Amino acid sequence: MNYIGSKLKLSSWIEEEVKKVVGDNISQKTFCDIFAGTGIVGRTFKKDVKQVISNDLEHYSFVLNRNYIQNHIDIENKESYIKELNSLPLIDSGFIYQNYCMGSGSERQYFSDENGKKIDTIRIKIKEWYETKKIDDDLYYFLLASLVESADKVANTASVYGAFLKHIKKSASKELILEPAYFLEDNNEHKVFNMDSNELIKQISGDILYLDPPYNQRQYSANYHLLNTITMYDTFIPKGKTGLREYNRSSYCRKNEVKQSFEELIENAKFEYIFLSYNNEGLMSEDDVKNIMEKYGKYSLITKEYQRFKADKTENRNHKANKTYEYLHMLQKDIH
Ligand SMILES: C[S@@+](CC[C@H](N)C(=O)[O-])C[C@H]1O[C@@H](n2cnc3c(N)ncnc32)[C@H](O)[C@@H]1O
Repeated sequence: MNYIGSKLKLSSWIEEEVKKVVGDNISQKTFCDIFAGTGIVGRTFKKDVKQVISNDLEHYSFVLNRNYIQNHIDIENKESYIKELNSLPLIDSGFIYQNYCMGSGSERQYFSDENGKKIDTIRIKIKEWYETKKIDDDLYYFLLASLVESADKVANTASVYGAFLKHIKKSASKELILEPAYFLEDNNEHKVFNMDSNELIKQISGDILYLDPPYNQRQYSANYHLLNTITMYDTFIPKGKTGLREYNRSSYCRKNEVKQSFEELIENAKFEYIFLSYNNEGLMSEDDVKNIMEKYGKYSLITKEYQRFKADKTENRNHKANKTYEYLHMLQKDIH
């Protein structure tokens, strides 16, 4: 999934750096990814550690992580459910088609008409199977995660769901095909939550805490509202031109609240090793982060330099743009 702040390209580097500090063998450790988003960091560590604790404020993220992290035992015949969902006759009375597709007269175009109907058809069937106990929790979240990933691929947006495009773009005109969201199988038990980080932190403990909070004012809940609508599948009156629903406002996206929230999180963390990814142009400055973290133990800053490439339209090739840095702040906390 194309997600703001995704660590897809950085997850191996984060894994390497964590191991340099904590040690190569982390097989008996508990790793917590408390701002999990797509779940890619937790998924990277799932094969290395005894337990992953994963959390995010957003429901679509909970669904993805409930599947990719908590699911760990093979689900028999899972492909046959995918196959059945892909071949159902389409309905046109569902919430997505009625409110987010042009053909229904909604004046919104987040999906092509066919794909909107297919999302509803699949979502309603998954709900029916779950309510009649034909499928259990593990299979329910596997199918829902598959739907989130597959629907996102055909969304008619520039990148996020803050707005839709006037014309159906090429990728959005392709038929939605439900693809299985495969998860790593292992013998360990993992836990996934859908809570505010600062509430959850008071209830958990472990060894390695990875923090990847939002770093600017863009609220994820507003930018990915449609994914929440697909996973929650409740009814409400969509607001305005973009069809927004009520959304969560994270204190990490607020200039005057972020430092206090961050400090509270560090203070309450019962983890020896804390790693933070944070952009150098974020709401907290590098010094803000350092000043807070070093109050609680041994602090250091790990950086990685990389070259950003920019498309040069006149010459039609890429050229090197400014150097950018990736920052990983590290705290070995005095927890005794
Ligand atoms: C930078 S993204 C994380 C990206 C993730 N590491 C990945 O690679 O996909 C920040 C995440 O924090 C979540 N978030 C924001 N405020 C939160 C809060 N107070 N508690 C828990 N999660 C929160 C957002 O929903 C978003 O998914």
